[in-house]
Order: sequence, then structure tokens, then C-alpha cells
Amino acid sequence: MPTPPEQRLKELRETIRRHEERYYIHNDPEISDEEFDRLLHELEQVEADHPDLVTADSPTQRVAGHPVEGFETVEHVTPMLSLDNAYNEGELRAFDERVRKAGGLGEAPVAYVAELKIDGLSIALTYEEGRLLRGATRGNGTRGDEVTANVRTIRAIPLALRGGPAARIEVRGEVYLPRASFERINRELEDAGEALFANPRNTAAGTMRNLDPALVSKRNLGAFVYQLVAQGVAEAGHYRSHSETLTALASWGLPVEPHWKRCETIDAIVAFCEEWSERRQTLDFGTDGVVIKVDDLALRETLGATAKFPRWATAFKFPAQQATTTLEAIEVNVGRTGAVTPYAVLEPVKLAGSTISMATLHNAEDVARKDLRPGDRVLIEKGGDVIPKVVKAILPHPDGTPRGDPWRMPAECPECGSTLHRDEEEVVWRCDNPSCPARLRRSLEHFASRSAMNIEGLGASLVDQLIERGLVHDFADLYHLTATQLEALVVAPREPRSERAVPRKLGKVGRNVADEIERSKANDLSRLIYALGIRHVGEKAAATLARHFRTMERVMAEPPDALQSVAEIGPVVARSVRAFADEPRNQELVKRLKAAGVNMESQAPEPSDQPGPLAGKTFVLTGALASMSRDEAQAALERLGAKVSGSVSKKTSYVVAGNEAGSKLERARQLGVETLDEGAFVALIMKAQS
Ligand code: IVH
Repeated sequence: MPTPPEQRLKELRETIRRHEERYYIHNDPEISDEEFDRLLHELEQVEADHPDLVTADSPTQRVAGHPVEGFETVEHVTPMLSLDNAYNEGELRAFDERVRKAGGLGEAPVAYVAELKIDGLSIALTYEEGRLLRGATRGNGTRGDEVTANVRTIRAIPLALRGGPAARIEVRGEVYLPRASFERINRELEDAGEALFANPRNTAAGTMRNLDPALVSKRNLGAFVYQLVAQGVAEAGHYRSHSETLTALASWGLPVEPHWKRCETIDAIVAFCEEWSERRQTLDFGTDGVVIKVDDLALRETLGATAKFPRWATAFKFPAQQATTTLEAIEVNVGRTGAVTPYAVLEPVKLAGSTISMATLHNAEDVARKDLRPGDRVLIEKGGDVIPKVVKAILPHPDGTPRGDPWRMPAECPECGSTLHRDEEEVVWRCDNPSCPARLRRSLEHFASRSAMNIEGLGASLVDQLIERGLVHDFADLYHLTATQLEALVVAPREPRSERAVPRKLGKVGRNVADEIERSKANDLSRLIYALGIRHVGEKAAATLARHFRTMERVMAEPPDALQSVAEIGPVVARSVRAFADEPRNQELVKRLKAAGVNMESQAPEPSDQPGPLAGKTFVLTGALASMSRDEAQAALERLGAKVSGSVSKKTSYVVAGNEAGSKLERARQLGVETLDEGAFVALIMKAQS
């Protein structure tokens, strides 16, 4: 007899979950990726034949949703608190003293649990009847964003618990980006000539805020849980200790970071912190310390919490990873806008698992303030960021070497020899030569980047070659490249030491780039305006200009007053666009782009002449909103016909006060302007939309 579909579905789902757990939680797969895909494929097939049997907790339903418009906010059952910090052994022992004193324990040792502190973003997961109901970010601690669709894509997080409680429970933990995924994402961005993410935590946080679960799914986020909040439910009282709770969480198939340890004394805690200060590099996720928690849950109750953190826990922060080396030289880098920034060339040194030979120096003032001079021994530090920084010079030089001369910003651009200059009110030095090869390189990378013309495959190394071979002198030249020319380019290997790393012809990849260039001709005008790299014109201003003026011809022709009459365009942007348009070489460039077939018209809907429901109202936004970014709030208001202004006056209709609103709220009160908190603001928008 053939297996009934219900039974096969059950088997497949359980088997797949077991393998997900082995792979994504225990890092110990039992089957190959191919075998796993085959199981998933079979499940998809059976579900396609029996759509009525598809359930929300099936492994096929991880990316079930479509992009969302924005996140709802939700209130946490209990506030998500933060942790007090300890930076050394003394502070750890002081924490232990406080616990024993407040707990009335005298000299009796207290048992703690030590866990790695995951460097990610905190998350609260609600399960009911064992099914994942909701995922929410920490937000301001009281309210967070409801990010269930994104959370469902994280394969370490079970959609259904194995044998857990039926009652509604909340588990809290951390979502993180594995280091390997972070490096992959940055490599892809680099190839696309885009700005890189600074560190895995920012990338994970940015990813969770993304509105498209399909993209989130590709990012390969991981998660660990470390807390059970089960208000008023039998399970809460069921466990007497944190260690029992962690064991239970893991047994339900939840991801618990496995290196946690129960320590009978504070001495054992100190040893754990010392051990992991060294071992942290061996992990595939970032950890910035150890969290020490009282194990006994009854003692935790006695100790309670302050408004900010529990008294029963503290976070030991690992010392920053530092090394000393020699500052061999200070060189400068020329950016797309001509900004010239110094960086340190270092004698290569091992730090936190990688070899460091360069560090950022921010700007000339920073170098002067730290008085860094070539030849100095310097202390360098790697925080969570990819690029290490120079902390200070070690003076006097440890081997008595006399110091060199103070460093000065070169008078001329190292790439093209033009005289550098600096505006009085700026810290940045600039090369003003628009044909400087360094500027051209960066401008082309920007032009091709994902948010600009989105020419996939045209990254830094290809741009270098196009310039070196004299094939491209400006953006318009890109549109005269032939597939044959691109195919014949040679790519340098990414890892020169690898055996297979032989320079090779681009071939098919070159042809794809040619197709991508062709495709980019049809882009909306807003992309082109942004891609041109006009100073102060970001993605948003570019979209506004395109939407209002409709054609490139008009954008190039409008006087500053007309440009500025558009709500979101300020005087700085208006002047900058005008300066760009007045430059004959830019006029020529736009003409050539047009002749090459690049679209010069906006495809966005025309701004409506109908007054919106909030027409005539002026809003001022201050403080952070939990449910949307400032830009999203502004866009929503403008869609409804309202104006958004930066300063409060008597004419302001409403001041929207988010978290940590400052002087603008104060001013609104003085002037008697109506203020709205986030709830009232969201209600007003919803009403206006309906
Ligand atoms: S326990 C009441 N355990 O660190 C606070 N937090 O700096 C309960 N974190 O907001 C937190 N790893 O997002 C705890 N093993 C761990 C953690 C951890 C990372 C985060 C958490 C918290 C932040 C405080």
C-alpha cells in the first residue's frame, strides 16, 4: 500500500527539521547538501500535489511572504533590559560581592552560568502550542519591530518546537551573521563596487530591518537563544535554575550556544573569561564578551533589576584586540568626490586572526591630533569593525630611535599632481581635477553600483583595467564598449597564492557585463541622476528631482530657485545641481549619454495635483520612531500631501516626538504647537490613508 500523503509529509518535515538542526545548530551535518535539497524538493512536490496539507510550520514555508510595506511595532511582555558591564577581574569580583550581599549570602559561594556574549541583535520569539507565532526586535526595550517574516527565514530557528510546552512562551536570544557570510557579502559588494558593511553586527541589524524576506533568507543569518520568559505559565516555575532552562530550550530544538558553563565559584568565572578572551577567534560568530548570570532562579527574583539592567547578571567585555607595530608610511587615498584621506601603511602584524598592514586615519586633523609620524611604533586596535585603527604612537620609541618630522598632507594630488585645497569650514582636503584618474576610478565604481546604474559585474578590478587600457574616460564611454572588448579583458586572481590562481580572460563574464551595460540604458532617470555623483545628491534627492522635473533636460536647465521650490530639495543640493549643470563638460557628458541611448526620463508616477488629505499641514519629526525610519515617516506624510520641515515655528501643525526627542519638543511646548507621540502619529496617518 502506498504511504498516505499525510504520513509522508510528517516524515519528511521531521527528517528535514532534524537535518536543519544538525546543520544550522550543531554544525555537524549527517547528509550532503544535495541529499538535503532532494528531501526538500520531495516535500515541495508532495505539498504541490496536496496544497490543502501545507502548514505554516512546514520547512518549505520559511520564505512564504512577499516584501512588506513596513514593520508593525509590538509591546514586549516584559521589558528587554540591557546588561551592566565588567571590564576586568576586579569588577567581576565586585559583581560577585554585590550579589552575595544583596542575596544575604555572606561568604557562601554563588553558582553562576557563564555564556558567550553574542555580538548580534536581540530578538524575542513567541511560540504558542509549540508553533512560532511571532519574532520581534528589541527596539527601545519596551516596544520592538515585528519581524516574523524575516525570523522565519533563519534556519536555526525552529518553526515548530519538538516536545516543548503547549502554553504561550517567549524565548529571547540573539540573531547574528556568521563571519564567513559577512565576508562573502562584503566580497560581493566589493565586486559590485559598493560600500562595504563595517562589521557583522551592523550587517545583521540592517538585514533584519530589510523589508524583503527573500533577501534576508539569502543572508544566512544565525541565532542563539538564552532566556525563557513564560509569564504566568507553569513552565516558568518548572525550572529552578538557568542551567536547567538552557538544557530544556536545547531539547526543544532551539539553538543554544553550546559553550555555556555552570561555574560554582567566581574564580571559575574569571578562568572562563580568561580562556575565551583567547579562544574567541576560533568561533564562526562574533562575541564581544561573556555574560555571567546567577544560576538559581529564586535568587534572581530576590535580586531583581534596576530600570536598566538585572542585578543578577553582568557582561564581562573582552579587552580590545590590540597590537603594536611600526608605522611605515602615511599615504593618501583619493575618493570619488576628490576627498583626499590619509591611511597608515603598517609593518604587517598578526591581530585577531588576520594580518594587518593598513589602518584608517580618518583625516589630516586626526593625524595631527595624535601626532603620528612615519617611523613611530604605534598601537593598533581592532574593534568590531573590519578596518583597524591606529590608537596612538608609543613614545618615546621603545628602542630609542629619534622621531621623524611631523606628517603633512601633501600639497599635490598623488594621482594627478593638481594642487589640493581645503574649504575653511571643512576638515577634508580635496583634489579638484575632475579628470583625476583616481576620481574617475571611484566615480565609475559608483556609477555602476547597485543603487546607481546597477551594472552587475562591473566592479573595482574591471574598472581599473578599463581605465588602464584607455577604453573608458567617462561614464558615456561605457556605452561604447563592445562585448568583444569586454570578453578579452584579463582578470587578476583574487588570491594570488592559490594554485588555480592564473590570470584568465573574462570570456562569458565579459559578455554578461556587456548585457548588463545595455540593460542599464533603460534605468529610471532617478538612478542616472544619482549615478552621476553630483555632490550632495544622494539617492533620495535624485529620486525627488526625477519625479518632479521628469526629464534630465529640465533638471539641467532649472534655476536654483525652481530646484529649491521642491519640498525636499534644500539650497545646498540646489546649488550643487546648478554647479554641475553649468559645467560645459557635464553638459557634453549628458548629451553623449543620451546619444548612446541612456534613458533620460522619469518613469515614476507624476506627483499628483490633487491635494492630499494632509495638504496644508506642516510636520516636524524629532526623536526616533520605533515603527519606521525618519525617511519612511517623511515619505508617508508627503504622500498624503503634508509638508515636513526641519524646525518648529508657530506655523508648524504638529511635532511628532519619538524616543529621546530633544529641543524641538521643548520648543513645540513653548509655542503651544500640538505634539503627537508615536501611537497618535501612526493613528493619524492610518486615518488619513483610509
Ligand atoms: S542575557 C536581561 N545573554 O547583550 C538581559 N544577553 O549588552 C538579558 N547578549 O541586550 C540578556 N549574548 O542582546 C544575554 N548570552 C547572552 C547574550 C546577551 C548577547 C546581548 C543582549 C543584550 C545585550 C546587553
